[in-house]
Amino acid sequence: MNNKFLNPVNTQTWANGRHEVQCVRVIDETLDVRTFCFTSTQPVMHFFKPGQFVTFEIEINDQQVLRSYTISSSPSVPYSFSVTIKRVPGGQVSNWLHDNMKQGGFLAVHGPTGIFNCIDITGDKVLMLSGGVGITPVMSMARWWFDTNTDVDIVFVHSARTPRDIIYRRELEYMDARIDNFNLNLICEHYGNGESWSGYSGFLDQLKLNIIAPDFMDRIVYCCGPTPYMTAVKRILTDAGFNMANYYEESFGAPPEEDRIDAEQQASDTANLEVNSDDLLQVEFCKTGKSVKVKPGLTVHAAAAQLGLHIPKACGMGICGTCKVKKISGDVKMSHNGGITDDDVDAGYILSCCSIPQGDVSVEF
Ligand code: FES
Repeated sequence: MNNKFLNPVNTQTWANGRHEVQCVRVIDETLDVRTFCFTSTQPVMHFFKPGQFVTFEIEINDQQVLRSYTISSSPSVPYSFSVTIKRVPGGQVSNWLHDNMKQGGFLAVHGPTGIFNCIDITGDKVLMLSGGVGITPVMSMARWWFDTNTDVDIVFVHSARTPRDIIYRRELEYMDARIDNFNLNLICEHYGNGESWSGYSGFLDQLKLNIIAPDFMDRIVYCCGPTPYMTAVKRILTDAGFNMANYYEESFGAPPEEDRIDAEQQASDTANLEVNSDDLLQVEFCKTGKSVKVKPGLTVHAAAAQLGLHIPKACGMGICGTCKVKKISGDVKMSHNGGITDDDVDAGYILSCCSIPQGDVSVEF
């Protein structure tokens, strides 16, 4: 650790935006899951809300690729942050990171951001349900609560394929042994020859849930895992009559259909509309000195694309904050999913992927 981080005068806190970070450690968690630890190249304390994510900007085969990953570390250890990534068949970015990101490597990162976090969603009694590498946001929350000696009553239920696939197993068992308000329950689909397993076997179901957390109806549920896992969890809870207003999941990559903003689709939709030229709206990009007249309904991002201007974009759904630009003048209608803070909005920033001009608009790009 460079001592520059310990100088409170020079050290800044992490704000949503683009930062350069350096990989300072790579840890093998399981056979196909690795944790990558990063620090900023500038002295920065990595404060964020446990459960939030960052978006990596990576050049692969001369193409810029953006991909979001939940932060697995806790802001209680702010000198670095980590992400835990599983190698998946065909996973362009995850495999690239596994193959190429070593200690000393550099990366550009956007964020942190995200509404699935334990600061904005709170409760005295919680039930954390995770499957596979979906453990990362709830692990960040658990680490935060553990490190800060909170009195939140935590039931932590993690499902893995086999005992050897349990990510962070020793750390989870340590927390379980150390404090009495952390109750760990591990479920393995099956176990291999020569492996011993004394925990739950199979899948999470109503019966197991009743045994593990008989008071689950009184808890706030945080859930993250593969889509079939989250679908099964929701079915178990709704069948039991659980109040789904107390259910929260990492909806990363799967927001409600009506919230999806697809700029290219919008561009083609609006291109097919007959519009009076008086109704065209001017979108100006003042740094590059370019402007374009667009039909109503097009996002600022799509307007930029018409000019060949590429505002960085990852999720396209107002989640990740990658496409943030400063609005200089005019009004937009922004339908985001938590990818921008109220402070940023007050300062005039918008997410270009989900902001639709309501008149002539000028942005800083
Ligand atoms: S690209 Fe993610 S918020 Fe716009």
